Amino acid sequence: MADAFITLPAEAASFVKNGGRDVDTSKLPATAPGERVRLLDTGGDDVGLAISDPENQRLRVMATPDDGFPRIDGALLGWRVERALAWRSQLGLPGPEHAYRLLHHAGDGVPGFTCDVLGPWAVLYAYSAALLPFARQLAEAVCGFARLRGVVVKVRARGGAAEVTQEVVGEAPPERHVALERGVPFEIHALGGLNVGLFTDMREHRVTLARHAPGRTVLNLFSYTGALSLACARAGAASVTSVDTSDGVQAWARGNFARSELTDPARWRFETGDAVRFLARAAKTRERYDLVLVDPPTFSTARGKPWTLERDYPELIAQAAAVIPDGGLLWLAANTHELGSLVRLAQRGLRGRGAIVDQGGLPPDYPTLAAQPRDRYLQVISLRL
Ligand SMILES: C[S@@+](CC[C@H](N)C(=O)[O-])C[C@H]1O[C@@H](n2cnc3c(N)ncnc32)[C@H](O)[C@@H]1O
Repeated sequence: MADAFITLPAEAASFVKNGGRDVDTSKLPATAPGERVRLLDTGGDDVGLAISDPENQRLRVMATPDDGFPRIDGALLGWRVERALAWRSQLGLPGPEHAYRLLHHAGDGVPGFTCDVLGPWAVLYAYSAALLPFARQLAEAVCGFARLRGVVVKVRARGGAAEVTQEVVGEAPPERHVALERGVPFEIHALGGLNVGLFTDMREHRVTLARHAPGRTVLNLFSYTGALSLACARAGAASVTSVDTSDGVQAWARGNFARSELTDPARWRFETGDAVRFLARAAKTRERYDLVLVDPPTFSTARGKPWTLERDYPELIAQAAAVIPDGGLLWLAANTHELGSLVRLAQRGLRGRGAIVDQGGLPPDYPTLAAQPRDRYLQVISLRL
């Protein structure tokens, strides 16, 4: 069957010709979910081959004429995986049991898809159900080229549906398995929900934290499975207190600490509860921490009313700073594509206190296109107070 085709308006055609791969479809004719679409410019010349993703209002451009592929098929997707793997090999990331990002959206020529290798299994995300058939083909290629036992394919639908649609290509993983990041073991629940236990985008920040942590009393708010806490603990922190609202992730974090033989409850504390309430209590009892990590979800309803970054982060930053003595460090992360917006939030919370000593964002296994600057979604700064 011949692919559908669309003639792109001049602006959209030039976006693709200048490297863009996620074409906004709000002003384009409708195409069926998952349909392969040939993109033409107003002169009738081929601009690219795309997959229709109406749920996200996007045409996902998988190839341009320069790539030399006549259609979107296993050969093209396999070539994308091979190239992505070559870059990760150059970075020294693949290896037995290793954890790293193998495919990252448009930066790897696969807009709408990501894939984390987590030891012998990988988790591949498709950003809508329409992309699933292509996700399966990508998973086959990932399994073969990266020599994995299997790949769990998950649909990451808009708005974060409660039920995760998933299927396995190759051998199914056990309920729990272990992956290594720089030799540190982390428990992975590949068949669990959307998040499987380790955010690979924080790898380089764990290295930075290890430099700041020795001898410090550390407080990690929104600690999830304790990966940032563990980086500090292994680096020789005097103590690490991890705070998260979920009992389940606290047990998981304890397990990760135990795998690193860190089991002293006097030094490695896990507090189940709300981060803001924890800080209010700590301020009252005059607890002090030399290094406080704050990595809140962009949006949370943990305390009944919705919490948003823009409105509520400065107050959280002020509360965190209140438990840090002069000379201590505040480490802040936010899901935003602009460093400036995180710095402004920090400024509002700190009112002149502190100097930025480190800044960073996504690691090199998270390539993003210059044509799509909003894809650089992570910002991190450390401030010395
Ligand atoms: C983005 S994850 C943090 C990731 C973590 N910093 C890491 O790198 O592994 C967000 C975590 O915040 C927790 N959380 C959400 N609202 C919270 C709140 N009000 N207080 C404490 N933890 C909260 C969630 O349970 C989840 O584990």
